Amino acid sequence: MEYIGNKKYWDDKFASRSDNVLSPERSIVENLTCFKKGSVLDIACGDGRNALYLLENGFKVTGVDFSSKALERLRNFAKRSNYFVNTRQIDLSVSNSLKNIGIFDNVLINHYRLNKKQFLDIENQITEGGILFICGFGHKHPVDSKIRNQDLIQQEDFQYINKSFNLIKYIESEEDRGFFVTYIYRKY
Ligand SMILES: C[S@@+](CC[C@H](N)C(=O)[O-])C[C@H]1O[C@@H](n2cnc3c(N)ncnc32)[C@H](O)[C@@H]1O
Repeated sequence: MEYIGNKKYWDDKFASRSDNVLSPERSIVENLTCFKKGSVLDIACGDGRNALYLLENGFKVTGVDFSSKALERLRNFAKRSNYFVNTRQIDLSVSNSLKNIGIFDNVLINHYRLNKKQFLDIENQITEGGILFICGFGHKHPVDSKIRNQDLIQQEDFQYINKSFNLIKYIESEEDRGFFVTYIYRKY
């Protein structure tokens, strides 16, 4: 699924950013202890503000995104701090695109919306007791020409994975930037 814009939109956006890493998502910082120690697959990682934060906190990180510009920035930021990050350029709108990505202790999806079927695909790519952490614009966020209804995370997105995962935490927050939800699932 295309989230907010197409590849060119995102490449241009990342190319025009300054040479600084943005702050990690607050919900990830506040709930870091929920993550299982080990590896993280950061889906639609962008230029890596969260991936870098997780590297700093001892996780092994693989970031996937369709923007080559975003991944290049992430690799450069990581190198600057002497971290290694694995990156894969993947278009998530292609079906089965995550199929051979490997198995991880945590999957993070921050500000991206996977479709219901893709959740089924990643179900087998999380270790037992592993965490699926999703955060982004939620169902009450006002839609406009930029953030469309199809970009908002809905409870029904997770309907197929409820049998293998336990929702350990659900958070709603209203901020200047909008209405956010965080879902933290642990795999049985
Ligand atoms: C709002 S940014 C979030 C980036 C990062 N997760 C963060 O929290 O800073 C959305 C990301 O989704 C990526 N994206 C959008 N559509 C995609 C697609 N079809 N396949 C892969 N990545 C995509 C964009 O390149 C961008 O990096």
